[in-house]
Amino acid sequence: MRTTWTFHSANQILFGRDAILQLGEIATRLGAKRVLVVTDPMLQKASVLERVIEPLRKSNLAVEAFTGGEPEPSMRAAEACLAQAKSFRPDALIGLGGGSNMDLAKLSATLLSHPGTPRTFVGDDKIPGPIMPLICVPTTAGTGSEVSAAAVVTDTENKIKVGILSNYLRPRVALVDPMLTVSCPPKVTADSGIDALTHAIEAFTAVDSAVFPLPPGERSVYQGRHPMGDMCAEKAIALIGQFLRRAVKDGSDLDAREGMALAATLAGLAFSNVGVAVVHALEYPVGGAVHCSHGCGNGLLLPYVMRFNLPARVKEFAAIARLLGEDTSGASDQAAAENAIQAVDRLRDAIGIPRRLRDIGVKEEQLRPFAEKASSIQRILRVNPRPVTVDDLYGVLRTAF
Ligand SMILES: NC(=O)c1ccc[n+]([C@@H]2O[C@H](COP(=O)([O-])OP(=O)(O)OC[C@H]3O[C@@H](n4cnc5c(N)ncnc54)[C@H](O)[C@@H]3O)[C@@H](O)[C@H]2O)c1
Ligand SMILES: [Fe+2]
Repeated sequence: MRTTWTFHSANQILFGRDAILQLGEIATRLGAKRVLVVTDPMLQKASVLERVIEPLRKSNLAVEAFTGGEPEPSMRAAEACLAQAKSFRPDALIGLGGGSNMDLAKLSATLLSHPGTPRTFVGDDKIPGPIMPLICVPTTAGTGSEVSAAAVVTDTENKIKVGILSNYLRPRVALVDPMLTVSCPPKVTADSGIDALTHAIEAFTAVDSAVFPLPPGERSVYQGRHPMGDMCAEKAIALIGQFLRRAVKDGSDLDAREGMALAATLAGLAFSNVGVAVVHALEYPVGGAVHCSHGCGNGLLLPYVMRFNLPARVKEFAAIARLLGEDTSGASDQAAAENAIQAVDRLRDAIGIPRRLRDIGVKEEQLRPFAEKASSIQRILRVNPRPVTVDDLYGVLRTAF
């Protein structure tokens, strides 16, 4: 039994409307003179890149942008970013975008500081030391990558998404400006928002850190559930219950954008210390094969995995129902816990996430191979409150089909 736990974050979190105006000072304080902004063509088109470059130029920094980012980035994108970085020779990187670009920046900062290819660092705790200073500026409210220890890339050869996990991947600064999410289209808002809900729910219902089943000799940035993780997850769930529908319905609803931006960062703090579990393990093969977005795959799978985990976490699910705004007065814990699954189901429908795997192009004969691939991702499966076999995973996929 373990008696200690830890909490890691980005070194600094700067949060709030128009925080972006402080980017130049922040980069200067990190000692940067030449910064490479890692982003994509959509954010360039939406003029978000411009808003990030301006304060950097005002602080007399030399700036270049890599605009070759892509959703669910491939290892090739990281190599292209690295090639540009090698000729520009930055002393700091800025990850600007959703999780995809922030993760690309994390991987590029790693490759600029340590010998190896993207594959060298796949897995838990494989980065040998600090990476190039990195500032992450999220433009979606979802992944929490701005504070997290993870970078997720697509291994196109093996058709699966792979994770790189290391506390060295946590950015020096997370600059979270909700105004940068206003141009996020409704689908991206919905998908990334339900990803944040998945992070918070998987952390809040994870196995307790005291009994986290880490085999001797193995290291992991995940450690199971603990009180600071709970605190962040609870607040995130409440904010998402209050604001996700509103943010999807009206992207210019600034209170909703701000609430979701905070929720995503809090959920990132929760899951990046506690862990994510079966939803994410199943999404990696599903997303790698059918190319749905990470959030869409997670949101689709979430209620089915909640149903599987419910027997192990009745009280926590009852609390989730209350946090999501359900009236559970007079209900037993069991009934309130059922309510949590229904609330997530309704939220999923309201924001347009598909209900079944067949709706996103999954074929029945893919279910068994998906379960087998997911069962190999022990670093996250061990976070689940119930032990899972390959048949359990197959069973969940069948109910979701
Ligand atoms: N590192 C982590 O801790 C972590 C956690 C969860 C998920 N992820 C990964 O993050 C990725 C998903 O990230 P995401 O959900 O943030 O979406 P994303 O980064 O893939 O972005 C989706 C699309 O929305 C566009 N977009 C983003 N912000 C916009 C804005 N403000 N205005 C207009 N367009 C905008 C992007 O250009 C892109 O085309 C996946 O690869 C997933 O595996 C990482
Ligand atoms: Fe996620």
